[in-house]
Amino acid sequence: MEVIEAIQTRRSIRRFKATPVSDDALRQVLEAARSAPSWSNTQCWRFIVVRDTQLKAKLADTLIGRLAADSSETRPNGAAEALKQAPLTIVACAQLGKSGYFQGKASTNKGDWYMFDIALAMQNLVYNWEKTSLNFHLMFAAPNQNQAIPENHLA
Ligand SMILES: Cc1cc2nc3c(=O)[nH]c(=O)nc-3n(C[C@H](O)[C@H](O)[C@H](O)COP(=O)(O)O)c2cc1C
Repeated sequence: MEVIEAIQTRRSIRRFKATPVSDDALRQVLEAARSAPSWSNTQCWRFIVVRDTQLKAKLADTLIGRLAADSSETRPNGAAEALKQAPLTIVACAQLGKSGYFQGKASTNKGDWYMFDIALAMQNLVYNWEKTSLNFHLMFAAPNQNQAIPENHLA
């Protein structure tokens, strides 16, 4: 399949089979992710692979479901069940103060560029779907509070 076809036919999947993901396939998608370009080649990404059912359920609870950042009102997140169902979840974390920084100082008035670099890595990862026969769903979560994330990292 041509890259352009893989790009145009990719979809966010919300129902998963429990079929385990092989280490080979996992290595392939992580390799694609870490080959992404990054600010000054800083590669601020760190990936945590979660297969544990209870931890996946905890992560599902941290999916962004607020109506607004400054509101406590919530809405259901359509991807929560998919996260619990999928045989594994890859949590993309960023080491802060690397992307967008030179010698410890922010190089631009935009601060940390980690979101940009992480998005590129995730895009690489997702577009391996055709080669690995895996399906993916990108989700935005805030799992810091369950202590699954290393210190000085954001997920
Ligand atoms: C950064 C990001 C965060 C997302 N977060 C969620 C999410 O929390 N829940 C969800 O159901 N979908 C989430 N999505 C998936 C989008 O809703 C989906 O990509 C969009 O509706 C287009 O559908 P498609 O991916 O099938 O083309 C997210 C996508 C991105 C890029």
